[in-house]
Amino acid sequence: MNPVSALWAFTDEECRGLAESWETPLFAYRGAVAAASYRALRAALPERVRIAYAVKANSHPRLLRCFAALGASFDCASIGELQRVRELNLGPGRMFFAGPGKRSPELDLALEMGVRVQAEGWEDLARLDVLATSEISVNLRVHPLSGAAESNRIIGGVGPAAFGIDEEQLPEILERAKGLRHVRIRGLHVFAASNQRDAKALLETHAMVLEMGQRLRDLHGTELAQIDLGGGLGVPYAPDEIPLDLHAFGKGLSELLRQHSWFQGELILEPGRFLAAACGIYLARVIRVKESRGTRFAILEGGINHLLRPLLTGQPFPVKAVGKSGPVRPVTLAGPLCTSLDRLGEIALPELAPGDLLAFGTTGAYGFSEGMTHFLSHPIPAEIWVD
Ligand SMILES: Cc1ncc(COP(=O)(O)O)c(C=O)c1O
Repeated sequence: MNPVSALWAFTDEECRGLAESWETPLFAYRGAVAAASYRALRAALPERVRIAYAVKANSHPRLLRCFAALGASFDCASIGELQRVRELNLGPGRMFFAGPGKRSPELDLALEMGVRVQAEGWEDLARLDVLATSEISVNLRVHPLSGAAESNRIIGGVGPAAFGIDEEQLPEILERAKGLRHVRIRGLHVFAASNQRDAKALLETHAMVLEMGQRLRDLHGTELAQIDLGGGLGVPYAPDEIPLDLHAFGKGLSELLRQHSWFQGELILEPGRFLAAACGIYLARVIRVKESRGTRFAILEGGINHLLRPLLTGQPFPVKAVGKSGPVRPVTLAGPLCTSLDRLGEIALPELAPGDLLAFGTTGAYGFSEGMTHFLSHPIPAEIWVD
């Protein structure tokens, strides 16, 4: 089982200490939990799987340094993320660049840094061919026709998508790519599931990708040095959610590699959430409590400006009232923004009062990095790194 599936990286006492030492609202990350998440995943995976941390989940420089020191590679998706990763001084081969809309300065920087680009359409291939001065290997991101698990509206599914090349367009693209001067397609990238805690479902998606790779090789003669399976490894957001079985997942990947012995290259995984979620906590105090037509509201110092995910996915972060016990009653958690969209969830908590401290767990991924910190110009929350 996955040893780093706890919802809370900090005890109540530590939360109180953080809130007394720093101005709330704030994020705090525990380095040891991030490192444990990385180590647990690394230990479960076959050697031939490279872990490329998806920087979008949390780009805090200390977190990036922590993963880099443990040997991680990095998946970037913007010029800002490329710049952050450049500061890690990694050698080539440890950086990837994906994204459905890449601008020329981004491609320039990616080439300069020796980053492996995930081409998401003919435009990426053609522009790279013009910008490159010698041969470069790229991966082709494909939007599959079937077999993609859909969850949480983030990624996946087989409907129309902004990402990658539709699988049915592959023959035409591969034929055209033969005419490119510098660009060589040597990898496949398919990211087709999000926040998936079921190892079997993840493995089914990955099996579909390896089969696609085999078709590319058999039908089009494309030799693949890399197959990138994207991110999507899930984490629990509630006490009753079962964590991803890392052992079963790793074993299943080994078995897939064994079945697909034609593929002697590297598998890439790009987990963001799995590596970063558990290390983080978000702390905010209650500003006021009000009753409105039968609904009890607690209005907090921060809302969707700092934690947007509940609004996007309908799934709240776990929350507790620090140091409080006693009978619980339902309360709607609202932020301070002037929009009725500013809700962090409805939950049963002990009786709340102004000044009470709430802690939101598993907010190390898609917390600060996904928030709308400039909306309404509230102060930007601090991010505290705890070693
Ligand atoms: C290309 C790519 N790779 C990896 C990830 C990370 O996904 P997750 O955090 O679900 O592991 C994302 C997330 O959107 C992505 O777009």
